[in-house]
Amino acid sequence: MPELISVLTKGEIKKKVAHVARMISSDYQNGELVLIGVLKGAFIFLSDLAREITVPVKIDFVETSSYGERTCSSGRVRITKEVEIDIAGQNVLLVEDIVDTGLTLTVLIDYIKSLNPKTVKVCTLLSKHERRETKIHIDYACHEVRNGYLVGYGLDYAGDYRHLPQIYELKL
Ligand code: IMP
Ligand code: MG
Repeated sequence: MPELISVLTKGEIKKKVAHVARMISSDYQNGELVLIGVLKGAFIFLSDLAREITVPVKIDFVETSSYGERTCSSGRVRITKEVEIDIAGQNVLLVEDIVDTGLTLTVLIDYIKSLNPKTVKVCTLLSKHERRETKIHIDYACHEVRNGYLVGYGLDYAGDYRHLPQIYELKL
């Protein structure tokens, strides 16, 4: 049986999400904002974040190819669902569950930029800084982790564990 080790409790997540939402609300107080969540992992984080942000937002999603049943990136990222609303001239905030090597975000940032937004920033729930293979700037990160494979609060392993209300490290 895989073992689940608690990394962030419900209360800790709530505090960290609220903190980042306050920073975002303050940074965008003079302009509209489009939140673009990266499916499927970011769906719970985005829904909590959006409700804590106090400036008007629009919401859309993109989806990238998943890891399948592996816990490390295949290094190939494919966009399987594109943005549907017109983001030309808009302030865009990409919302990710976790940034690991940074490959997914590198591809997504290039894609979003090709749609001519006014600005593009990145917000992630979790960041594994030590594992980064690409140079990307993360504007807002709720929590930094060292390593290990994390599940819960939207994050999955082979489609499981997304519904768990807190974040765990999965020991296979
Ligand atoms: P990257 O392209 O290596 O930065 O990987 C980012 C994507 O891989 C994220 O959007 C997640 O969906 C997935 N991922 C990376 N690390 C984890 C993890 O620890 N748990 C669950 N998903 C992960
Ligand atoms: Mg993802």
